[in-house]
Amino acid sequence: MSRGRFITLEGIEGAGKSTQVEALASMLRSRGLEVVTTREPGGSPIAERLRTLLLDPLNAGMSDTAELLLMFAARAEHLKQTILPALARGAWVISDRFTDATYAYQGGGRGIDLARIGLLEQLVQGDLRPDLVLVFDLPPAVGLERAQARSGGKDRFEAEDLRFFQGARALYLERAGETPERYRVLDATRPIDRVREQILSLVGTFVDDALGRSGHTNPHGG
Ligand SMILES: Nc1ncnc2c1ncn2[C@@H]1O[C@H](COP(=O)(O)OP(=O)(O)OP(=O)(O)O)[C@@H](O)[C@H]1O
Ligand SMILES: [Mg+2]
Repeated sequence: MSRGRFITLEGIEGAGKSTQVEALASMLRSRGLEVVTTREPGGSPIAERLRTLLLDPLNAGMSDTAELLLMFAARAEHLKQTILPALARGAWVISDRFTDATYAYQGGGRGIDLARIGLLEQLVQGDLRPDLVLVFDLPPAVGLERAQARSGGKDRFEAEDLRFFQGARALYLERAGETPERYRVLDATRPIDRVREQILSLVGTFVDDALGRSGHTNPHGG
């Protein structure tokens, strides 16, 4: 059994990440793969409790450093409880956000030195990085408008201003540009079904390559 692959969905609020998770998971399952879908912050019991702390608007005064450390504390749990065991048994993991979101929000949004984020990334993840990062790109005003149209009040990040999200978006694009072989940037302003088609096509190609290279056979014979 070869190790599974790790795919992350990234982008600012309202970009459409959560909307696309299930379609992507079903496509991978139809290829005979075991798939685990998860999210950040969260994805394990303790990490979900940290998510509640991190998103609660009542914690508006949280220091940037505490926020950064809590994100990585949640990630350490998420890796240990959910991501690493799944990958080890050959499952493919789709995470709705991961460390690129920390670079984007805490780095690009809050202005924390990227080298410091890199130190924590190495401490918590060692050499683990996503195999494929889908960046849902759109102007922050469009994303925030979509997010606000959803039911429920604003969380602690949604309450940030356009400048914050412009910084986050720029960081996502910068990172995608630095390592183009691992990143795909999607035009997230397009309609839901067009974005889905693009994802299924991109990831379909990625699966072909991964299965071809690992000699994995499809148990469903497809
Ligand atoms: N391509 C699209 N075009 C128009 N509306 C969309 C599109 N994709 C998603 N939406 C709608 O926008 C809203 C936000 O989408 P979604 O919750 O998937 O965003 P998200 O990226 O997960 O946001 P967050 O980071 O805040 O969790 C939802 O109401 C969803 O139905
Ligand atoms: Mg979401």
